Amino acid sequence: MMNDYFDQRARNWDGSPTRLAQTSDIFAALERQVALQPDWTALDYGSGSGLLTLALARRVAHVWAVDLSVGMMEVLMEKARAEGIANITTLVADFTREPLPDERFDLVTSALALHHIDDPPALLRGFRSLLQPGGMLAVADLDTEDGSFHGDNHHVRHFGFDRDELAARLTGAGFDGIKITTAAHRERGERTYTIFLATARAV
Ligand SMILES: C[S@@+](CC[C@H](N)C(=O)[O-])C[C@H]1O[C@@H](n2cnc3c(N)ncnc32)[C@H](O)[C@@H]1O
Repeated sequence: MMNDYFDQRARNWDGSPTRLAQTSDIFAALERQVALQPDWTALDYGSGSGLLTLALARRVAHVWAVDLSVGMMEVLMEKARAEGIANITTLVADFTREPLPDERFDLVTSALALHHIDDPPALLRGFRSLLQPGGMLAVADLDTEDGSFHGDNHHVRHFGFDRDELAARLTGAGFDGIKITTAAHRERGERTYTIFLATARAV
């Protein structure tokens, strides 16, 4: 089960300095590409322990953190409490299997979750329906890799993504103004993997 896998890793998720650096690089790329507004409501999908969610919560009015892992959500809530961050709504959910909420958001973000999803185009369409027209999507994930990134690929559905193909999927899901930039590098052994940030506007 996907949630067991992430539940077991939740307590140690923030123990990796490279993961912390990766998220701060992704957030820096997000800030370069999207003019975050203090009155925005955002939704961070596959929020995990909240590395991106908490950074966002300091910059916008309200953030929904959505993840299927209860363990990850517990860690996120503990961190938010410890840091006095009170503008986060948490939701344990899997939008690939459950109905989406009726709320509409100014920004949807998702970092390193898309490669765990069976049908990314369907989820991108879901993200589009969660956004107000003109709302922004920001998705970070691995560029196409050879399957060596995770080691254990049991919960991996895609070995990264091809940027041109993703751009076409975003257009098909109802986005325009698509930009895909390199957000972070991740060293593993002798290899370097790149992580992109795709930003797009809901038509
Ligand atoms: C690689 S982690 C990334 C977590 C966080 N965004 C980060 O950058 O540290 C992927 C996260 O996506 C969540 N996830 C995987 N599949 C999901 C799904 N179908 N619905 C919601 N969350 C999912 C996992 O529970 C996990 O927390």
